[in-house]
Amino acid sequence: MKLSPTKTIVALETRMPKYILGDSQELLKEMQNESVDCVYMDPPFNSDAKYRLNPDSELGFDDVFSSNLEYTNLVEPIVHECKRLLKKNGSLFFHISANEMAVPLVICEKHFKKVQPIFWKRSRSKNNVKTKLGSTIDVILWCSNVKKPKFNMTYQPLDEYYAKNSYKNKDSRGNYALGHIVYTATQRTKNKDRLYSLNHDDKAYEPENGWRLSKQDLLGLIDDDRVHFPTKEGANPYKKIYKHESLGKPCTDLWDDIHSIAQGTESRRYPTQKPVSLLKRIIKLTTDEGDVILDPVAGSGTTGVAAKLLNRDFILIDKNPDAIEICKKRIKEET
Ligand SMILES: C[S@@+](CC[C@H](N)C(=O)[O-])C[C@H]1O[C@@H](n2cnc3c(N)ncnc32)[C@H](O)[C@@H]1O
Repeated sequence: MKLSPTKTIVALETRMPKYILGDSQELLKEMQNESVDCVYMDPPFNSDAKYRLNPDSELGFDDVFSSNLEYTNLVEPIVHECKRLLKKNGSLFFHISANEMAVPLVICEKHFKKVQPIFWKRSRSKNNVKTKLGSTIDVILWCSNVKKPKFNMTYQPLDEYYAKNSYKNKDSRGNYALGHIVYTATQRTKNKDRLYSLNHDDKAYEPENGWRLSKQDLLGLIDDDRVHFPTKEGANPYKKIYKHESLGKPCTDLWDDIHSIAQGTESRRYPTQKPVSLLKRIIKLTTDEGDVILDPVAGSGTTGVAAKLLNRDFILIDKNPDAIEICKKRIKEET
């Protein structure tokens, strides 16, 4: 029996199906407005290739379109419906190769107020490329309809060069780098409370552009031996930033610390499978425990694996029955 649209919506709501076999262009229409917190979509890229798990396998999908218009006709209705399904402070991530990003960028900018590209360096150099530049970058377009979508501070490992060269000072706690606690001329503070003088070891410090922290906070750091006073005459003090306490660097728009499946340890179940760590970063960045993540072109279900490991709910849709079976198997085996 075919359900009427209203009945289907109710059925989807109450059961919250995790795996749905079918065409997202149709299925998404049956879901309720503002019902998901985050969408990750990694559709075919329009790369003119047929992806199979290996040369002897049928498992995979064709990424062949006769024109950019035909490609637009696949992805734009999905983006349009996903936008409707997203909660106000939600985010949609559109994953595409750098070579093919032009069409999705136009679509995302048409439907969303804010689009920020994230550059994922998915592989190192390509030694087999002789007549063109090796392609190593995927772009993940982070789309939202508010200035400040839900955001959780996330960290990346420190750059090797910075880590090696910055933690050169040492005290009984360990190695530390120097963090600025006074403003430079271009940053000069207008806050009069930050223009104070400090006496320490018979020396007076009164930076002309002001301090970055209150006198009370500064005295607290000094009490805890977390301020570095240089011996050089006239030099300003710094905050000690200990290497062993560092969480890493606040996440940037260049993700060069996550390896592709080919370079990592995960086993490949589907030709264009993405690493779980990539999805974990996206999910941690923009959702909280209990939130709902939707992947309308789920492939092997990497989004579901990452969501479950992070205690989020998930909905995976794919039109390929093999893909849906792999999603179910992976969630069972990997979470
Ligand atoms: C690049 S793969 C996704 C890979 C996935 N991110 C992973 O980690 O395994 C794209 C998937 O989109 C599916 N697909 C393409 N058009 C679709 C549509 N209209 N509705 C649902 N799924 C679709 C394909 O079957 C394919 O599995």
